Amino acid sequence: PLLYLNGEFIPEDQARVSVMDRGFLFGDGVYEVIPAYAGLPFRLREHLDRLNNSLAAIRMTPPLDHEQWSQILHRLLQQRGSEDQQIYLQITRGAYGKRLHAIPEQVQPTLMAMASPINRRDPELVARGMSVITLEDIRWQRCDIKAITLLANILAQSQAREEGADEAILVRDGLANEGTASNLFMVKEGLVITPPKSTHLLPGITRDLVLELAMEDGIPYAEASISADELESADEIWITSSTKEVMPVTRLNGKPVANGLPGPMWERMDALYAACKER
Ligand code: PDD
Repeated sequence: PLLYLNGEFIPEDQARVSVMDRGFLFGDGVYEVIPAYAGLPFRLREHLDRLNNSLAAIRMTPPLDHEQWSQILHRLLQQRGSEDQQIYLQITRGAYGKRLHAIPEQVQPTLMAMASPINRRDPELVARGMSVITLEDIRWQRCDIKAITLLANILAQSQAREEGADEAILVRDGLANEGTASNLFMVKEGLVITPPKSTHLLPGITRDLVLELAMEDGIPYAEASISADELESADEIWITSSTKEVMPVTRLNGKPVANGLPGPMWERMDALYAACKER
C-alpha cells in the first residue's frame, strides 16, 4: 500500500523521514486517528477541525486545508476497497539543520498519512466488557492537544496490561479525566455523565458524538467532573474512542462495576452508534 508523505504517494516500506525531523528528536508534532466505514472517513470535518486546533496550540500554520486533506485521504482509502479502515495522520514541525529547542523560523513541516484495516473491536471483549485500573495522571497540562508525545500514556497503558487490565483511567487531583487513549463516561441513576472539556483531557470526537446521540434519543446526560471515588459506585462505565467506539467497562481496579455485566444504557448507546455509522 501507498502512504502520503510530503506531497507524494509512495510505498509504505520506502517512506523515509530525516533523523533531524523534530518529530523524531523532540516529539514536536500532532496527529489524528480517523475511522473510515465503507470507504468514507467518519466525522472528517470534526477530526480536521481538531487537527487545526492542535496545530494552533503548538504554533503551527495548517499546511493544508480541509479540502486538500479530504482528497489525500480519499485516495489512501481507495486502494483498500470498502473494508473498514483507520487513517493515521501526523504533522511534525519538520527537519532543521540542528537540534534546537527554540522553534526555528524556516522549517518545512513533515506531513504523513496512511490508511490500514481498522483494529476491529474484539466481539468477545465487547460481550465481556473491559477491565480498567485507575492510575495517577502524570501527563502535562495540555492534554487537549493531540500531541504525538505519548510516553506517559504508553507507560500507563503498559502498567494496566501488567496488572491484567485493558486500559488505565487517569486521575488528577482526585478526578478521573479520561483513559490513556479513550474518553470516560459513567452512568448513574439513568444519567450519562462525562467530564467537561478541559486542558486535562482530549476533546474526543467519539465523546462529542455520544453526547449528540444521547441528546437526539432523549437520554439524560451531563458534562460534570467524575471523582475516582464516584466511579466505584457507578451503575455503568464506558470508554470511547474512534477505534474502540463505545466500550463497556465491567471491572474497575479488580472489582466488578455494578453487577459486572455490560449495562442496558451501554447497549442502547452502542446500537445508536452503530446506526449512526450507517447514515
Ligand atoms: N486516541 N483521549 C486520548 C488520550 C486519546 O488518545 C484518544 C484517542 C481519545 C478519544 O478520542 P477520539 O474519540 O477522537 O478518538 C481520548 C486515538 C484513537 C489513538 O491515539 O490511537
